[in-house]
Amino acid sequence: MFRPLTIRGVTLSNRIGVSPMCMYAAEEGHADGFHLAHLARFALGGAGLVIAEATAVEPRGRISPWDTGLWAGTHVDAWRPITAVIAAQGRCPGSN
Ligand SMILES: Cc1cc2nc3c(=O)[nH]c(=O)nc-3n(C[C@H](O)[C@H](O)[C@H](O)COP(=O)(O)O)c2cc1C
Repeated sequence: MFRPLTIRGVTLSNRIGVSPMCMYAAEEGHADGFHLAHLARFALGGAGLVIAEATAVEPRGRISPWDTGLWAGTHVDAWRPITAVIAAQGRCPGSN
């Protein structure tokens, strides 16, 4: 469980992965400090893979109005610090 695992060129630091969990906390699809705290704690806790919640590539793809999104540049900007914190811990951020 604690050995690294390489899949298609991506090496996870261990075999512990956090499944994606919709948090229903985004405004207009934007991840924010809540999502940062929610996901970073798993990286700090040592999970090798931290998969973010279902993130829609267009508004109608959301399963609720409070889902995160990735259909505008502002969404990319919102996710950037979150993935950076996870990566800075030597963990792998994932998307769903
Ligand atoms: C509160 C909650 C939110 C979830 N949100 C997502 C999601 O956003 N995307 C997804 O693919 N699966 C989602 N799931 C499913 C989980 O990622 C996982 O596949 C499921 O809980 C089965 O895994 P387990 O047997 O380890 O619990 C969610 C599950 C729960 C309980």
